[in-house]
Amino acid sequence: MGGHVLAIDQGTTSTRAIVFDGNCRIAGLGQVEFSQSYPRSGWVEHDADQIFETVIATCREAIGKAGLAPGDIAALGITNQRETVVVWDRATGEPIHPAIVWQDRRTSHYCAKLRRQGHEKTFTKKTGLILDPYFSGTKLSWLLANVKGARTRAARGELCFGTIDTWLIWKLTGGRSFVTDATNASRTLMYDIGENRWDEDLLDILRVPEAMLPEVKDCAADFGTSERDLLGAEIPILGVAGDQHAATIGQACFEPGMFKSTYGTGCFALLNTGEEMVRSRNRLLTTIAYRLDGETTYALEGSIFVAGAAVQWLRDGLGLVENAAQTGPLAERADPGQDVYLVPAFTGLGAPHWDAEARGAMFGLTRGTGPAEFARAALESVCYQTHDLLEAMRRDWRAGDAGTVLRVDGGMVASDWTMQRLADLLDAPVDRPEILETTALGAAWLAGHRAGVWPDRVAFAAGWSRERRFEPAMEAGARTRAIKGWRSAVQRTLSQG
Ligand code: G3P
Repeated sequence: MGGHVLAIDQGTTSTRAIVFDGNCRIAGLGQVEFSQSYPRSGWVEHDADQIFETVIATCREAIGKAGLAPGDIAALGITNQRETVVVWDRATGEPIHPAIVWQDRRTSHYCAKLRRQGHEKTFTKKTGLILDPYFSGTKLSWLLANVKGARTRAARGELCFGTIDTWLIWKLTGGRSFVTDATNASRTLMYDIGENRWDEDLLDILRVPEAMLPEVKDCAADFGTSERDLLGAEIPILGVAGDQHAATIGQACFEPGMFKSTYGTGCFALLNTGEEMVRSRNRLLTTIAYRLDGETTYALEGSIFVAGAAVQWLRDGLGLVENAAQTGPLAERADPGQDVYLVPAFTGLGAPHWDAEARGAMFGLTRGTGPAEFARAALESVCYQTHDLLEAMRRDWRAGDAGTVLRVDGGMVASDWTMQRLADLLDAPVDRPEILETTALGAAWLAGHRAGVWPDRVAFAAGWSRERRFEPAMEAGARTRAIKGWRSAVQRTLSQG
């Protein structure tokens, strides 16, 4: 019975809870989608209380499906959509506003103002990030400025700020733990990733009082214990990491030069750079990959805002497919003679362009263009964007030493067609692991190892195995021509283009 670990994977559109057994195999899974709210163009909000309810429901479901009692769970790990901001009343636990989601662009003018004031260099130097609405800091400033009385209450220490991990831990522990981990902190625009602390200068610029910020811990640490009446037992929370960081761990990318890419709502590629805090010259982010035993491992990150969301758009927006799995087979039927490109800048463009004002566009449409060409363009857009990230990483790090093999995970990688296309366009092998629930697995490993019931890092990495490798097989000329077409499509989409 021993060694069962529960991982909560709180994502952008769904919450999942997975029980892993002592051999890192899935024993039970609960999943539920929750509501997305788009109150204005470019705004995206979540109901933080509803998110918490989905967490409790899915945890119970996963434990039940594993045939276990809550008391059989040795430890709990949490991984989460990053950057999303929740502010709540310390006394009552009531959020003062819906959560502002990472995709939300409402602070793009504020970011531009901060840039005009010459602050970008300071933010980038200390946080490794770029002044973009994507990150938490300007969203928090917006809440303090726009929710009546918030600034005064925050100054009095009456409000708490958290990313989703902090919110869930606070709720799970009945308000006893107000904490986060270094990876989540590294996405806020308020955390100095070299010094590993909240930064006073940045807080001053953003007008955020330090009293409302959580304590920052290692990824494997004592984060508190869940209340018995919530999950049916007091379970120690021993692992926390933002979802992309947890996926890096779950993919066992522990060595410098190892590279993973996760295809969820968006796509996030992380290259482990070890102790080295590499400064990108190509608009990638420098971020904390993980912090274990007080030692920080850094990564270069490329963030693409739309990956699985492009497939969702085909399904829900255009009605071209009934379910995501139909997209690959549909794309395969596309006319090879048509060069149709989709630039899915639905919420602006992330790395390496960082254009918050850009909006999506399609190019190359003819009278012959139909659903198959749309499907192919959507799937290829994800591959092309990954290509742009890998290229930027190769330019940034040790003269092209980076990521010779790409480890992939997330919903979209189930499509063989897409993975082959990815390998072709990257001109590099793509490895798909046995366990596709890499993000949850990473959180489970943090907690399980800390609890002393799971193997250490070396043994865990040795247990990683791939289900299939996709080798590049595209003729060089065709590849160059395809990429050239993509570049021209992006140029025509940029807001200043
Ligand atoms: O930075 C946002 C990211 O953490 C969201 O991940 O998997 O919900 O697309 P996902």
